[in-house]
Amino acid sequence: MASVIETAIRSVVTKGIYGVAAFNRWRLPEAPHPFLTGIHRPMREELTLHDLPVTGTIPAGLQGRYLRIGPNPAEPDASAGYHWFVGDGMVHGVALKDGAAPWYRNRWIRSNQVAEALGKAPAPGPRHNGFDTVNTNVVRIAGRDWAIVEAGSYPVELDETFDTQVFNPFDGTLQGSFTAHPHLDPLTGEHHAVTYEGADPNVVRHVVIGPDGRVTRELPIPVQHGPSIHDCAITARYAIVLDLPVTFSMRALIGGHRFPYAWNPDHRARVGLLPRNGGADDIIWCDVEPCYVFHVANAYDDADGKVVMDVCAHETMFAGEPGGPNGRNLGLERWTIDPIAKSVSRRTFDPAPQEFPRPDERRFGQPYRYAYTLALPDEGDDAQFIGATMLYKHDLETGTRAVHDFGAGRYPGEFVFVPAQADAAEDEGWLVGLVVDLPGETTDLAILNARDFAGPPVASVRLPHRVPPGFHGNWIADL
Ligand SMILES: [Fe+2]
Repeated sequence: MASVIETAIRSVVTKGIYGVAAFNRWRLPEAPHPFLTGIHRPMREELTLHDLPVTGTIPAGLQGRYLRIGPNPAEPDASAGYHWFVGDGMVHGVALKDGAAPWYRNRWIRSNQVAEALGKAPAPGPRHNGFDTVNTNVVRIAGRDWAIVEAGSYPVELDETFDTQVFNPFDGTLQGSFTAHPHLDPLTGEHHAVTYEGADPNVVRHVVIGPDGRVTRELPIPVQHGPSIHDCAITARYAIVLDLPVTFSMRALIGGHRFPYAWNPDHRARVGLLPRNGGADDIIWCDVEPCYVFHVANAYDDADGKVVMDVCAHETMFAGEPGGPNGRNLGLERWTIDPIAKSVSRRTFDPAPQEFPRPDERRFGQPYRYAYTLALPDEGDDAQFIGATMLYKHDLETGTRAVHDFGAGRYPGEFVFVPAQADAAEDEGWLVGLVVDLPGETTDLAILNARDFAGPPVASVRLPHRVPPGFHGNWIADL
C-alpha cells in the first residue's frame, strides 16, 4: 500500500513535494562534504592534453582509448543535500597508440544543469522524465560509445572527442530508463540490463539490446517500494534481478536529499531468476538474507541446475548518514541460488572490504576463474569510500588472492581487464585503470600484466592533475 500512496503522491503533487524538498535542502548545512573535498574535490576545467609522458612500455596490443566517468559537480559549492551518486558527470579519456599516449581529454556531460553552470548549450536529444545527469559508466554498444546512468536519464552518445554529445534512447528504441550496468553476452552479442525508474516505484524492467544497438525487449517486472537495482547478471538460462532492501525514500526526498534511497528493513530481500525469454510471471524469486549488492563479478549455471553468482556484498547500505555509500563491506561472496528450493546460500570468499569487481568479460555469464577487485579502506563507514591503495586478483578455483599495492598516497579506482588478443586465455592480458597520487595531485593511467599482478606496472601514463575518483571505465579498442 505504501508504494501505491507514494505513486499517488508523486503523480499528483510532485511539484509541491519538490518545493518542500527545495526548502528543506536550503535548511541543510552547506558544510564541507566528504565527497566534494580531499581526493574527491572536483575538477574545474575541461582539458585537452597532447603527448603525455609514458613510463615503461605500453603493450603493442593496446591501441584504443581508456574511458572513465564519475561525478564532478559543475557548481561544487552547492553541497547541501549532495550525494556522491548524483553529481554532474564528467568523462575522461586517454588514447594509446603505437606505444604512446597521444591525448587526454575530460568533458562534462552537458545536462541542462551543467550547460547552465558553464554558459554553454546543453546536449541535444530527448530527456526522460526530466532526468539528464549521467555519471556512472561509459560503454561501447554496437560500435558506439555511450555514457550511462541508472534510474532516469537516457544514454548520452559520445564522439571520440566528447565534444559531440547527444541524449539518445538507442535511436528511439528505449522507452523507459536505463542502467549503468548493461552486460554483453559474448555468446549472443546481446546486452542485458535490469533498469528501474526513479519516477515509478512499482516496476523494474529487463532490457535487451540486440547486436545492432536496438532495444528488442523491455519487460516490465512488478516490484514494491521502488528498489534501487544497480547491477544485474546473466547466465546461459537466466537474467538475474537483485531486488534488495535499498528502496525509494519519500522521507529522504522531502528532507531535501538529492539521492532519495535508503535501507528499508521492511523490503523483502530476494533474487529473481528470469528465464531470458520468459515473462514476469516466470521469474523464480529466491529469498536471501538481507544485504546490499552494487556489483556482480559474474554468474553462471552450474552442472546441477543451480546458479552461481559472485558479488561484493554490504551488510546494509544507506542506513546511516546520507551523502554517499556506507555500511559494512562484507567482501567477495559466492552466492549459490537454488531455483528448486528457491533459496540463496552465501559463502565468503574473501572478507576483506572490496568493490568494483570485474572478470575477464569474454567469460561473462559462463564459468570463469579470475575476478579483479578494488580494495576499500578497512573502516566500515569510511566517509570517502575510496582510500585503499590495493587491487586484488582472485583465483576462484584455488581460493587464493594476489595483491597489487600502488604504495602510500596512491589510490586506484576500478581496473578493467583487457585481453592480450582476441583468442588469449582467461587472465592473459592487461589491467587498466587510473591511480590518483594524492600528495602529488597527479594521476597515472596504470597498465598491469594480469599474470604478474603483484609486479610493477608495465607502463604508466602521467596526467598532470588529479582526476577525482569516479565510478566505472572501459577500454575501447580501435577497430
Ligand atoms: Fe556501478
